[in-house]
Amino acid sequence: MITRIMDVSLEPINMEYIREASEILRNGGLVAFPTETVYGLGGDATDKEASRKIYQAKGRPSDNPLIVHIAEYQQLESITKDLPETAKKLADAFWPGPLTMVCNKNEVIPYETTGGLDTVAVRMPNNPVALALIRESGCMIAAPSANTSGRPSPTKASHVYEDLSGKIEAILDGGPVDIGLESTIVDLTEDVVTILRPGYINMEMLKEVVGEVRIDPGIVYNDKGTTAGAKPKAPGMRYKHYAPKGDLTIVAGDEKKVVETINRLALEGIEAGKKVGIIATEETKDKYDCGEILVVGDRSDEKSIAHNLYNILREFDELETDLIYSESFATPNMGQAIMNRLLKAAGQKTLNV
Ligand code: TXA
Ligand code: MG
Repeated sequence: MITRIMDVSLEPINMEYIREASEILRNGGLVAFPTETVYGLGGDATDKEASRKIYQAKGRPSDNPLIVHIAEYQQLESITKDLPETAKKLADAFWPGPLTMVCNKNEVIPYETTGGLDTVAVRMPNNPVALALIRESGCMIAAPSANTSGRPSPTKASHVYEDLSGKIEAILDGGPVDIGLESTIVDLTEDVVTILRPGYINMEMLKEVVGEVRIDPGIVYNDKGTTAGAKPKAPGMRYKHYAPKGDLTIVAGDEKKVVETINRLALEGIEAGKKVGIIATEETKDKYDCGEILVVGDRSDEKSIAHNLYNILREFDELETDLIYSESFATPNMGQAIMNRLLKAAGQKTLNV
């Protein structure tokens, strides 16, 4: 199969391409498209075969459920049952936007799409191309991140092409995404709203809308790199994910000590014949004196760090670094989301200095 790339990055959106992509979806094919978080790999959420194709193209285990993307609130009501009041409140506050809600499903969405679960994860993306595609196709679109399973999520169309070229019908290229980390996932099927995956919409923002919010104990790691014992409720959070090819270690602590330690470890690695990479920030980049130094962003602008993280991890794959050392980014608003992804990429390996 030859994967077509359709450029929809300019305004007004080229509706001819949206119509062609819609046709592909209605015929059971797959189209990657931009959202405000990361690129998604889309298929008709009500079509079992399309969902099977998605798992196959990504090389993803079929017990890891897909997120259903919608363009109207009413579509959420049409595929769920026992919808709690909090769903409407959260939708009013954050949709369209980077929030996914897990709700009890009815029979409209097949088990192939929900990985066999009786719940369905739903979100309304805040991206004009994504919304146009959902509306024009008339489909609710099942879409995981458009990467090969185990690689960093794609934040540009070229990342999607690297991973899925020849495996899907088309890629709608809407330019680089805005946020760069996947949506916040909340579970609405229990008494208290529970965060299953941290993202741009953080605990404080959720609390302002629904009051009490908890975090899935299965995703909270202690200093030893283990959780309280519970399994994460979102199946996708159970795997070592987002793993770069090189061995990544996070070095955390006071900036001066972090820089000293990374410089020492990098030198040791190079002397041992390894190719070493360093994830630095604008503030620290000039303080490192060896290795491949890539700047992830600016500490005073945490969005820049979220935006570039996956891109940097992919660059290290291309550079074929053996060892990667990263600073830690416990920034005020997105720190939890950024560190969740970085720690996963590192298999939780952290050196506290
Ligand atoms: O920002 C995003 O959410 C992106 C864009 C494309 O929308 N999508 C995304 O999808 O990150 P994916 O498949 O890479 O991650 C979906 C996560 C997985 O961890 C999966 O296990 C979890 O959502 N999930 C999906 N349905 C669920 C359900 N019914 N219950 C619990 N977790 C669920
Ligand atoms: Mg993913």
